[in-house]
Amino acid sequence: MDFSPFDSRYFDDPYPLYKRLRDQDTLHYSQQDKVFCVTRYDEVRDVFKRPDLFSSRGGFASLLMQSWDRVGPRDLIEMLRFLVRTRINPLKFRGAPKSIITADPPDHAPLRQIVNRGFTARRIAAWESRIRELSEGYISGLADSEPFDVVAELAYPLPMMIISEMLGVETERLADFRRWSNGAINLQTSGTRAPSPAANLANAGELLQYVRSVVERRRREPCDDLISVMIDPAHGEPLDTEAVMLFALVLLVAGNETTTNSVGNTVDMLLRNPALLDTVAQNPSLIPALIEESVRLESPLRLMPRQAVEDTMIRNTPIPKGSNLVVMIGSANRDERAIENPECVDLRRDTGRHLAFGFGIHFCLGASLARLEARVILETLIPRLQGRELRAGGGVRTDSYFTRGFDRLELARIASAVAA
Ligand code: HEM
Repeated sequence: MDFSPFDSRYFDDPYPLYKRLRDQDTLHYSQQDKVFCVTRYDEVRDVFKRPDLFSSRGGFASLLMQSWDRVGPRDLIEMLRFLVRTRINPLKFRGAPKSIITADPPDHAPLRQIVNRGFTARRIAAWESRIRELSEGYISGLADSEPFDVVAELAYPLPMMIISEMLGVETERLADFRRWSNGAINLQTSGTRAPSPAANLANAGELLQYVRSVVERRRREPCDDLISVMIDPAHGEPLDTEAVMLFALVLLVAGNETTTNSVGNTVDMLLRNPALLDTVAQNPSLIPALIEESVRLESPLRLMPRQAVEDTMIRNTPIPKGSNLVVMIGSANRDERAIENPECVDLRRDTGRHLAFGFGIHFCLGASLARLEARVILETLIPRLQGRELRAGGGVRTDSYFTRGFDRLELARIASAVAA
């Protein structure tokens, strides 16, 4: 069997196929994409644990190159416009990757140390009341009898608002920020949502230009937002302007849609399983465990790219230097070799063992924010879910090899509930 992780035929229900791949061999080599697919839990964790052998930098670069066969003259013009607009010097970036998610050792640790300052437990916990206020505000605007789309009305706008407030985006720029955020999310997708490289560059260019202006302002007038914390020497080693610009882009790509998707996937799971919905509605203290089971079973990031730095082995398979790998989180989290009854939602199991937030040095920086946002949204939403069902045709899955979630998830009142 030749399986391609980028093949949209497997997007909807990839799990039976993942199982076949896991059972067949330790690794699957996709002839079509020239990429090793790492599908089992132990091997996925081993790859995450060895950034010295499996580079994120090379991995992301090769993934982005996928769309380069579509590059035309318009894209090259857009590239020049991007460089002028953002004042980014490409030569400066050649030797020193400044984006945390693509940085390898030894560049990664100092970057992570700086951005960690903005994501301490105390800083994140302080956002709970604002998240609740937004969540209740969005929900209270929805008429009880009318259908509503959980994604559009709640799961998408809330993380986007929080990240824009964390970064200190002015209210009058929110509409632009929303547009850039949408574009950033589409950066790494395939299928119908994939924009042209020129559109990606135009979008990222506008966002980065804006973030540069915020950084320059914060240098003159620091305040307590994320950008000030990262550039103010009073807090420790500062991040330079280009690094803050890239970090803002990473936050939008890595942080927004993932949280939206985890909420959408959880709501879908509850609607399919009324007994589970009853259990958490009666015992909201189980919501954190529900979130962990949801990100395990429906991992919002399906896969992560890596590239072999030298000739190496995974179990008995030789991996030549320069090989591309996709680390298939969505498969590892259902590996029966590591997780008992992996297909079942079990709120009493040790729910912390999954790899949905990665593992090792790149472990998700925003995991506690994502968990907090998902918990508060679900605490507000679950009491309103009973008596509702998925509207026919109202569940539209995201068309992406990279993320798993919903573009649309419309709920309607169950007919008998309306009659009663
Ligand atoms: C349910 C929601 C989320 C999921 C499933 C998720 C998943 C992940 C995964 C799997 C990684 C590891 C990437 C790798 O090893 O290459 C990662 C890294 C990262 N995530 Fe998340 N994420 C979520 C939410 C967030 C949020 C809310 C933010 C920030 C606002 C965020 C920011 C980041 C950053 C900056 C990294 C890179 C960390 C590093 O390279 O050191 N994520 N995330």
